[in-house]
Amino acid sequence: MSADFADKTAIVTGAASGIGAAIARRLAADGADVVVADLDDVGATRVAAEIEAAGGSARGMRVDVADPESCALLVRAAVEAFGGLHLAVNNAGITGPHAHTGEYPPDGWRKVIDINLSGVFYGMRRQIPAMLESGGGAIVNMASILGSVGFPNAVGYVAAKHGVLGLTKTAAIEYAQRGIRINAVGPGFVETPLLEESDAEAHAALARLHPMGRLGTVDEVADPVAFLLSDRASFITGSYHLVDGGYTAP
Ligand code: NAI
Repeated sequence: MSADFADKTAIVTGAASGIGAAIARRLAADGADVVVADLDDVGATRVAAEIEAAGGSARGMRVDVADPESCALLVRAAVEAFGGLHLAVNNAGITGPHAHTGEYPPDGWRKVIDINLSGVFYGMRRQIPAMLESGGGAIVNMASILGSVGFPNAVGYVAAKHGVLGLTKTAAIEYAQRGIRINAVGPGFVETPLLEESDAEAHAALARLHPMGRLGTVDEVADPVAFLLSDRASFITGSYHLVDGGYTAP
């Protein structure tokens, strides 16, 4: 634990589960007031209550990141609750349909792009002005290894995650001299409910794709996210940090 985020307010989207919940717990442990935001408001409230029970400061809130108005309301509610906004992690995401490109359904394409790509844009669009008003801040957008390499049966997900890198770099350049750092993180496959659909054999096959021979853990992603949000990363912006057990190295 550190006091990296004392007096800072953080929003983490998709924080009712998996990687987002681990990030929310980590930021709270390091002193932030954390808005645990998710479409699943019951789950968000539960994670916030767990954080409070562990001595942290958190509030569960509902957001649909695919809805620009919902993203605006979330930022307004965070500022009202905690008096500013300094940190944001745009992490909410879904896997989308599993099909080759020729059979990939357009409605599934639209949904995964709306949540995984547009959701990051709608979030940053509101978070950035609030951070400027709060004296600066830092954002981490959740990409994936699939932000830099392809993967069969996931064209919408892969396109969205590649897009997240473009959004991240562009916004980072725009605000580099205005006190806001913006980076992306690209995890390899991580043990979370997102992968629940795959059976043991599929899990083992995924693990073998990583030179380390295993999947990542949520805390192994939360840790570099916390670093990138902290002042220890003060010269890092517009970058893409792989956290992938070597997946993209070969
Ligand atoms: P998860 O399924 O455990 O959690 C995702 C959360 O996002 C859920 O709580 C869900 O309710 C929420 N969510 C879904 N749609 C939403 C919406 N429209 N608005 C607000 N919240 C919404 O997934 P996991 O694994 O923790 O994934 C988190 C992020 O990490 C995603 O962006 C995912 O693409 C990315 N990622 C995950 C990897 C993995 O292997 N698990 C690998 C690389 C990246």
